[in-house]
Amino acid sequence: ATTLGASAAERGRYFGTAVAANKLSDSAYTTILNREFNSVTPENEMKIDATEPNQNQFNYANADRIVQHARSQGMQVRGHTLAWHSQQPGWMQNMSGTALRNAMLNHVTQVATHFRGQVVAWDVVNEAFADGSTGARRDSNLQRTGNDWIEAAFRAARAADPNAKLCYNDYNTDDWTHAKTQAVYRMVQDFKQRGVPIDCVGLQSHMNNQSPYPSNYRTTLSSFAALGVDVQITELDIEGANATWYRNVVNDCLAVARCNGITVWGIRDSDSWRASQTPLLFNSSGAKKPAYDAVLQAL
Ligand code: XIL
Repeated sequence: ATTLGASAAERGRYFGTAVAANKLSDSAYTTILNREFNSVTPENEMKIDATEPNQNQFNYANADRIVQHARSQGMQVRGHTLAWHSQQPGWMQNMSGTALRNAMLNHVTQVATHFRGQVVAWDVVNEAFADGSTGARRDSNLQRTGNDWIEAAFRAARAADPNAKLCYNDYNTDDWTHAKTQAVYRMVQDFKQRGVPIDCVGLQSHMNNQSPYPSNYRTTLSSFAALGVDVQITELDIEGANATWYRNVVNDCLAVARCNGITVWGIRDSDSWRASQTPLLFNSSGAKKPAYDAVLQAL
């Protein structure tokens, strides 16, 4: 096939991108979006500060615009994200203890209920582990409500939308030997053993060209898959858009049956949260870069 989405579909997978609601009126942007991608992840519009700016006052306007656009184009939607230490509204940042736990669970329930049937997979919890060599949980107001906050969020999400795939999502989890990767692996293994509802693991895969390509990336993908979860590459971008690295990522995903989709974190370099590193598949004028050709060829 001649587009990323159609080629991925031939492999039984999706190829998605992060989308910003305020760019849907940019026809150069939507031309590429509609042509190339068959999955979208709202870049910021489903985050806690966007959907519950004041406690118990929910605002879905921008997220709904993205969902409507996706539906009109036959694209699937990944929901991102229900519980996270970052991009919390001020009222939540100032909460703790039981009040915060209940507010978080209410948020998960309300948002997952609003989008029930429209979101294929949710990043239920994002970035809950610390960087470095400890494999510990990240300290946050949510973590301080008790170590079981993650499973509580997953249970609330399952109850609200029983058909959505429920994912744990994190970064710096590409290298299989990294302590953080191992810690996430042990959590997912524990959840599966105890029947905590989890269906997928998202590897953000914001990759940095200074270090070598993680030669054990495929091992990371297959190891998670062997626990009985799908694995998705959820926020891919690569410093400098090294075409070989992009090709490697696609090949590694295709080698693992349960790696069922790849999402890049934006369309053009100018859309990227790390624009100065030009990490995406299209340049700022919307032209295909060598990394695009490498991905299409590998798919
Ligand atoms: C980023 C967005 O791309 C930016 O627009 C925003 O200012 C900050 O968040 N990990 C995640 C994403 O899970 O939600 C982040 O997205 C990038 C890192």
